[in-house]
Amino acid sequence: MKFSEQTEARLARLIESRPPGHLRSALVPMLLFIQDEVGAITPEVVEEVCQRLGVSRRDVEEVVSYYSMLRRKPAGRYHIQICTNISCMLVGGAELFEHACRKLGIGHHGVTEDGMFSLEEVECIGACCWGPAMQVNYDYHHHVTPEVFDRLIEQLRDNGGKARER
Ligand code: FES
Repeated sequence: MKFSEQTEARLARLIESRPPGHLRSALVPMLLFIQDEVGAITPEVVEEVCQRLGVSRRDVEEVVSYYSMLRRKPAGRYHIQICTNISCMLVGGAELFEHACRKLGIGHHGVTEDGMFSLEEVECIGACCWGPAMQVNYDYHHHVTPEVFDRLIEQLRDNGGKARER
């Protein structure tokens, strides 16, 4: 498998930064970088990572099945993660998630028909003081009300023709 120039450069830096004999430690970031480009961890991706890192398919499959941020199916162009853990829940995180489900017409792990948005209810994302918190791809959003959510969705829809932002 060949990736974009940018992704190949990231993968090369990742491998170069590992001490000899410790390539395995590049497994999670390598999967994330590739997922950013491909959209999901496909069987072809698993095979490619095995070859590049000299690890077994079982090693890769174990990691993919453990980490929820690694996906077998493609997410939307904008992957929305809303925290409903305790701190966010106390300030409206669960209501925000329900609002997002209604607004987008999808549920947990759903993808809109146009492939623009996917939605996930997640545990703490480390922004407990600024809840309700959510993440869109790698960007954090704090104190998100339903109104703020709706405005953001409209902005992202307007931005829809641009390249995948991850
Ligand atoms: S509980 Fe929501 S970010 Fe920590």
